[in-house]
Amino acid sequence: MATLASDIEMPDLTPINGITPTVDEQRAEAGAAANESWIARNMFGYSILHYDDVVAMLRDKRWHSASGKILEMSGIDNPEWLARRRRPSILSAEGDEHTRLRRLVGPAFSPRHADALRPYMRSVVTELLDSFASRGQADLAVDFCEHYPIPIICELFGAPKQDWQLFSNWATDIFRIFNGNLQEDMPTIFRAQDELDAYVSEIIEQRRSTPSDDLISSLIAAESDGDRLSHDELVMLCVAVLMAGTDTTRNQLGCSVSLFANHPDQWRLLADQPELAPRAVEETMRYFGAVRYTARFASEDIEYRDVLFPKGSFIGPSLALANRDPEIFDNPNDFDITRQPSNKPQLTFGSGIHYCLGAALARAEQQEALVLMAQRLPNLELAGEITWKPSSVGIFGPNNLPVRFTPT
Ligand code: HEM
Repeated sequence: MATLASDIEMPDLTPINGITPTVDEQRAEAGAAANESWIARNMFGYSILHYDDVVAMLRDKRWHSASGKILEMSGIDNPEWLARRRRPSILSAEGDEHTRLRRLVGPAFSPRHADALRPYMRSVVTELLDSFASRGQADLAVDFCEHYPIPIICELFGAPKQDWQLFSNWATDIFRIFNGNLQEDMPTIFRAQDELDAYVSEIIEQRRSTPSDDLISSLIAAESDGDRLSHDELVMLCVAVLMAGTDTTRNQLGCSVSLFANHPDQWRLLADQPELAPRAVEETMRYFGAVRYTARFASEDIEYRDVLFPKGSFIGPSLALANRDPEIFDNPNDFDITRQPSNKPQLTFGSGIHYCLGAALARAEQQEALVLMAQRLPNLELAGEITWKPSSVGIFGPNNLPVRFTPT
């Protein structure tokens, strides 16, 4: 007979007096909890701490994505805001609706499509590096990571260069949803969403009359057994791609470079052996992922490991702790870009039906950027203190990453 989750004794990761700890404190506290238990209490419900449980729960279709419930989880009850946030999205779709969307859009996000953008990625990286490589110092978060993903997403959409700044502003504003300041930020978020919807709607209409070889044209043409995406679904997907594909990539690259700045031998190795790029990306994402957890809610009463989670319970599968699980990874606290690939992959792209749709693109973007950076910024080291985003944000990374290197 399963025991109600709330009746079980387990470590408690709820911030004391509401004060959010730093990421290092969080990691230490959660690591200690993971030594004791596979589950811990947190602010919203329960954190899941071990690799096999994280994967099992993310693959269990009774747990639904909580990405559409951020307002409820943050205690916001403004009915107009709640209604506006309830618009459909691939990130929160479940069941047949989600399967259908993935079937239609999957081919446009294949590794082959991502590989076709590699020359363009290299040209963007080179242009960014050219702007500061001769200086011997830079703030890589501001001078590089911030600017890198937008041109790639714009190229994917077929949006012209003069609109990059618009996309960058919309992405920044829409991402305020993760900044924990919703009462103040929601009007800005909604305004950015409306502007982006209108912009994307216009490109869709243009591509319907004049198809091109970009993502939007592929999505318009996507068909499976006579089924096609509606106009609203196309808009939703473009918004999801901009949302999910910019801040993640920026912050992941920032986390990864900060790691290399503390492991100069690994930086040199990557510069000398660029063929290690795919492994380097998996290892940086394993060791220091920008997406540290995700969230699910129980769509019905769920029993798992003799624990009963009543319908509506929230869980936060910890991707970061799963990635350091000693049962899965040998010497998990060693950062080693020559680590052998295994059939238990790092989890920073998630797992189960919501596994990152843009993973092939994100891998290609990071592989291209890290190799060219390692070659153009030799002897990279930190030149000051890194300032980090607050540890409460959903997508974590550096705000400032001051480095010096041998000018090239
Ligand atoms: C390093 C960069 C990235 C990381 C760490 C990342 C991580 C993730 C994670 C963890 C999820 C699953 C969320 C969940 O289970 O709740 C996800 C989903 C998603 N990602 Fe990414 N992502 C990255 C880049 C991208 C890019 C470049 C794109 C698009 C071009 C993208 C598009 C998406 C979409 C559309 C989903 C939703 C998939 C679904 O719900 O079926 N991501 N991503």
